[in-house]
Amino acid sequence: MKSTSPISAFWLLAATLTLTTAIKLNITAIGTSNGKSTLECWQLDAPFEVSNAAGTKGSVTAQLGDVASASFLVVPADFDGGLHNAPANQWVMFTSGLAHITVSGGDSRGAYIEGGEFGLIFAADIVGLSEGHYTTYPGITETTGLQIPTRDGSVPAHQVVRSGPCQCNETEGLKALAAGP
Ligand SMILES: *[C@@H]1O[C@H](CO)[C@@H](O)[C@H](O)[C@H]1NC(C)=O
Ligand SMILES: *[C@@H]1O[C@H](CO)[C@@H](O)[C@H](O)[C@H]1NC(C)=O
Repeated sequence: MKSTSPISAFWLLAATLTLTTAIKLNITAIGTSNGKSTLECWQLDAPFEVSNAAGTKGSVTAQLGDVASASFLVVPADFDGGLHNAPANQWVMFTSGLAHITVSGGDSRGAYIEGGEFGLIFAADIVGLSEGHYTTYPGITETTGLQIPTRDGSVPAHQVVRSGPCQCNETEGLKALAAGP
Protein backbone atom coordinates (compact mmCIF):
# COMPACT_ATOMS: atom_id res chain seq x y z
CA MET A 1 0.00 0.00 0.00
CA LYS A 2 2.88 2.38 0.77
CA SER A 3 4.73 2.21 -2.53
CA THR A 4 3.28 2.09 -6.04
CA SER A 5 3.45 -1.47 -7.31
CA PRO A 6 4.65 -2.04 -10.88
CA ILE A 7 1.13 -3.20 -11.71
CA SER A 8 -0.63 -0.07 -10.50
CA ALA A 9 2.08 2.03 -12.14
CA PHE A 10 1.23 0.24 -15.38
CA TRP A 11 -2.47 1.04 -15.03
CA LEU A 12 -1.71 4.66 -14.18
CA LEU A 13 0.38 4.94 -17.33
CA ALA A 14 -2.31 3.22 -19.36
CA ALA A 15 -4.94 5.58 -17.95
CA THR A 16 -2.79 8.58 -18.82
CA LEU A 17 -2.43 7.34 -22.37
CA THR A 18 -6.21 7.00 -22.44
CA LEU A 19 -6.55 10.75 -22.25
CA THR A 20 -4.35 11.34 -25.28
CA THR A 21 -5.65 8.53 -27.49
CA ALA A 22 -9.39 8.07 -27.14
CA ILE A 23 -10.18 4.50 -26.17
CA LYS A 24 -13.07 2.95 -28.04
CA LEU A 25 -15.13 -0.05 -27.15
CA ASN A 26 -14.55 -3.21 -29.18
CA ILE A 27 -17.41 -5.69 -29.14
CA THR A 28 -18.20 -8.98 -30.78
CA ALA A 29 -21.02 -8.55 -33.27
CA ILE A 30 -23.16 -10.88 -35.34
CA GLY A 31 -23.24 -9.43 -38.84
CA THR A 32 -24.16 -10.84 -42.23
CA SER A 33 -22.44 -11.46 -45.53
CA ASN A 34 -23.92 -13.08 -48.65
CA GLY A 35 -26.92 -14.50 -46.80
CA LYS A 36 -24.87 -15.93 -43.95
CA SER A 37 -24.43 -14.74 -40.40
CA THR A 38 -20.89 -13.79 -39.45
CA LEU A 39 -18.99 -13.19 -36.23
CA GLU A 40 -17.06 -9.93 -36.34
CA CYS A 41 -15.11 -7.71 -33.99
CA TRP A 42 -16.42 -4.15 -34.17
CA GLN A 43 -14.82 -1.02 -32.85
CA LEU A 44 -17.56 1.47 -32.01
CA ASP A 45 -16.98 5.00 -33.33
CA ALA A 46 -18.20 6.68 -30.14
CA PRO A 47 -15.14 7.04 -27.86
CA PHE A 48 -15.07 6.81 -24.09
CA GLU A 49 -15.45 10.28 -22.64
CA VAL A 50 -14.89 11.59 -19.16
CA SER A 51 -18.24 11.81 -17.45
CA ASN A 52 -19.41 15.03 -15.90
CA ALA A 53 -22.62 13.50 -14.56
CA ALA A 54 -23.38 13.55 -10.86
CA GLY A 55 -22.55 10.20 -9.32
CA THR A 56 -20.02 9.17 -11.98
CA LYS A 57 -18.13 12.45 -12.47
CA GLY A 58 -14.51 11.72 -13.40
CA SER A 59 -15.18 8.20 -14.64
CA VAL A 60 -15.67 7.39 -18.32
CA THR A 61 -18.69 6.50 -20.43
CA ALA A 62 -19.22 5.52 -24.05
CA GLN A 63 -22.54 6.41 -25.71
CA LEU A 64 -24.41 3.49 -27.26
CA GLY A 65 -27.05 5.60 -28.99
CA ASP A 66 -30.84 5.66 -28.87
CA VAL A 67 -32.69 2.50 -27.99
CA ALA A 68 -36.28 1.35 -28.34
CA SER A 69 -36.97 -0.87 -25.33
CA ALA A 70 -35.29 -3.22 -22.90
CA SER A 71 -36.06 -6.67 -21.60
CA PHE A 72 -34.36 -8.83 -19.02
CA LEU A 73 -33.53 -12.36 -20.11
CA VAL A 74 -33.09 -15.47 -17.93
CA VAL A 75 -31.97 -18.67 -19.66
CA PRO A 76 -31.60 -21.99 -17.81
CA ALA A 77 -28.21 -23.70 -17.51
CA ASP A 78 -27.22 -25.98 -20.37
CA PHE A 79 -29.86 -24.59 -22.75
CA ASP A 80 -29.97 -24.94 -26.53
CA GLY A 81 -31.31 -21.79 -28.17
CA GLY A 82 -31.11 -23.30 -31.66
CA LEU A 83 -30.66 -21.59 -35.01
CA HIS A 84 -32.33 -18.19 -35.18
CA ASN A 85 -32.04 -14.65 -36.48
CA ALA A 86 -31.72 -11.60 -34.29
CA PRO A 87 -35.33 -10.47 -33.63
CA ALA A 88 -34.18 -6.87 -34.24
CA ASN A 89 -30.93 -4.97 -34.48
CA GLN A 90 -30.11 -5.09 -30.82
CA TRP A 91 -27.59 -4.90 -28.03
CA VAL A 92 -27.38 -7.91 -25.78
CA MET A 93 -25.60 -7.33 -22.50
CA PHE A 94 -24.97 -10.66 -20.82
CA THR A 95 -24.82 -10.02 -17.10
CA SER A 96 -24.09 -13.56 -15.85
CA GLY A 97 -23.56 -17.07 -17.17
CA LEU A 98 -22.19 -18.09 -20.56
CA ALA A 99 -23.41 -17.94 -24.16
CA HIS A 100 -21.78 -19.72 -27.08
CA ILE A 101 -22.52 -18.40 -30.58
CA THR A 102 -21.58 -20.15 -33.81
CA VAL A 103 -22.32 -19.39 -37.46
CA SER A 104 -22.38 -21.80 -40.37
CA GLY A 105 -19.18 -21.65 -42.37
CA GLY A 106 -17.45 -19.88 -39.49
CA ASP A 107 -14.75 -21.08 -37.13
CA SER A 108 -16.20 -23.98 -35.12
CA ARG A 109 -14.89 -22.44 -31.90
CA GLY A 110 -17.38 -19.61 -32.39
CA ALA A 111 -17.66 -16.95 -29.72
CA TYR A 112 -17.89 -17.63 -26.00
CA ILE A 113 -19.48 -14.62 -24.29
CA GLU A 114 -19.20 -14.57 -20.52
CA GLY A 115 -21.69 -12.57 -18.54
CA GLY A 116 -20.18 -9.52 -16.91
CA GLU A 117 -17.75 -6.75 -17.77
CA PHE A 118 -17.06 -8.10 -21.27
CA GLY A 119 -20.61 -9.30 -21.88
CA LEU A 120 -21.81 -6.73 -24.43
CA ILE A 121 -22.50 -7.84 -28.02
CA PHE A 122 -24.50 -6.45 -30.94
CA ALA A 123 -26.73 -8.72 -33.04
CA ALA A 124 -27.55 -7.50 -36.56
CA ASP A 125 -28.45 -10.69 -38.47
CA ILE A 126 -32.15 -9.93 -38.70
CA VAL A 127 -34.65 -12.03 -40.66
CA GLY A 128 -34.19 -11.68 -44.41
CA LEU A 129 -30.48 -10.91 -44.22
CA SER A 130 -29.18 -14.37 -43.34
CA GLU A 131 -30.00 -17.88 -42.23
CA GLY A 132 -29.18 -16.92 -38.65
CA HIS A 133 -26.79 -17.98 -35.92
CA TYR A 134 -26.77 -20.75 -33.37
CA THR A 135 -26.69 -20.02 -29.66
CA THR A 136 -26.25 -22.40 -26.76
CA TYR A 137 -25.87 -21.61 -23.07
CA PRO A 138 -23.41 -24.32 -21.94
CA GLY A 139 -22.72 -23.01 -18.44
CA ILE A 140 -23.64 -24.76 -15.20
CA THR A 141 -25.57 -21.70 -14.04
CA GLU A 142 -28.38 -19.74 -15.62
CA THR A 143 -27.45 -16.97 -18.06
CA THR A 144 -28.96 -13.54 -17.59
CA GLY A 145 -28.84 -10.47 -19.75
CA LEU A 146 -30.52 -7.41 -21.14
CA GLN A 147 -31.85 -7.34 -24.70
CA ILE A 148 -32.01 -3.79 -26.00
CA PRO A 149 -33.22 -3.18 -29.56
CA THR A 150 -32.03 0.09 -31.05
CA ARG A 151 -34.44 2.86 -32.00
CA ASP A 152 -35.66 2.49 -35.60
CA GLY A 153 -33.40 -0.56 -36.06
CA SER A 154 -30.30 1.56 -36.35
CA VAL A 155 -26.85 -0.03 -36.25
CA PRO A 156 -24.23 1.83 -34.19
CA ALA A 157 -21.47 3.54 -36.21
CA HIS A 158 -18.47 1.22 -36.16
CA GLN A 159 -15.43 -0.12 -37.98
CA VAL A 160 -15.07 -3.85 -38.52
CA VAL A 161 -11.72 -4.62 -36.90
CA ARG A 162 -11.72 -8.09 -38.47
CA SER A 163 -13.77 -11.23 -38.84
CA GLY A 164 -14.23 -13.49 -35.85
CA PRO A 165 -15.07 -12.50 -32.28
CA CYS A 166 -12.99 -9.92 -30.41
CA GLN A 167 -9.99 -11.42 -28.61
CA CYS A 168 -9.11 -10.79 -24.96
CA ASN A 169 -6.44 -8.26 -25.94
CA GLU A 170 -9.07 -6.22 -27.79
CA THR A 171 -11.33 -5.77 -24.80
CA GLU A 172 -8.96 -5.54 -21.83
CA GLY A 173 -8.51 -1.80 -22.46
CA LEU A 174 -11.47 -1.55 -20.07
CA LYS A 175 -9.06 -2.46 -17.27
CA ALA A 176 -6.97 0.62 -18.04
CA LEU A 177 -10.11 2.76 -17.86
CA ALA A 178 -10.85 1.23 -14.47
CA ALA A 179 -7.82 3.05 -13.05
CA GLY A 180 -9.64 6.35 -13.63
CA PRO A 181 -8.63 9.32 -15.79
C1 LIG B 1 -3.91 -9.23 -30.16
O1 LIG B 1 -3.11 -10.39 -30.29
C2 LIG B 1 -2.88 -10.81 -31.63
C3 LIG B 1 -2.06 -12.06 -31.59
O2 LIG B 1 -2.65 -13.01 -30.78
C4 LIG B 1 -2.18 -9.71 -32.42
O3 LIG B 1 -2.03 -10.10 -33.75
C5 LIG B 1 -2.99 -8.41 -32.33
O4 LIG B 1 -2.26 -7.37 -32.93
C6 LIG B 1 -3.28 -8.05 -30.88
N1 LIG B 1 -4.16 -6.89 -30.84
C7 LIG B 1 -4.00 -5.88 -29.98
C8 LIG B 1 -5.02 -4.80 -30.03
O5 LIG B 1 -3.08 -5.84 -29.18
C1 LIG C 1 -10.02 -1.70 -28.79
O1 LIG C 1 -8.98 -2.12 -29.66
C2 LIG C 1 -7.90 -1.20 -29.78
C3 LIG C 1 -6.92 -1.78 -30.78
O2 LIG C 1 -7.56 -2.02 -32.00
C4 LIG C 1 -7.24 -1.01 -28.42
O3 LIG C 1 -6.23 -0.06 -28.51
C5 LIG C 1 -8.28 -0.55 -27.41
O4 LIG C 1 -7.71 -0.48 -26.13
C6 LIG C 1 -9.45 -1.51 -27.38
N1 LIG C 1 -10.48 -0.98 -26.48
C7 LIG C 1 -10.79 -1.56 -25.33
C8 LIG C 1 -11.84 -0.88 -24.50
O5 LIG C 1 -10.26 -2.59 -24.93
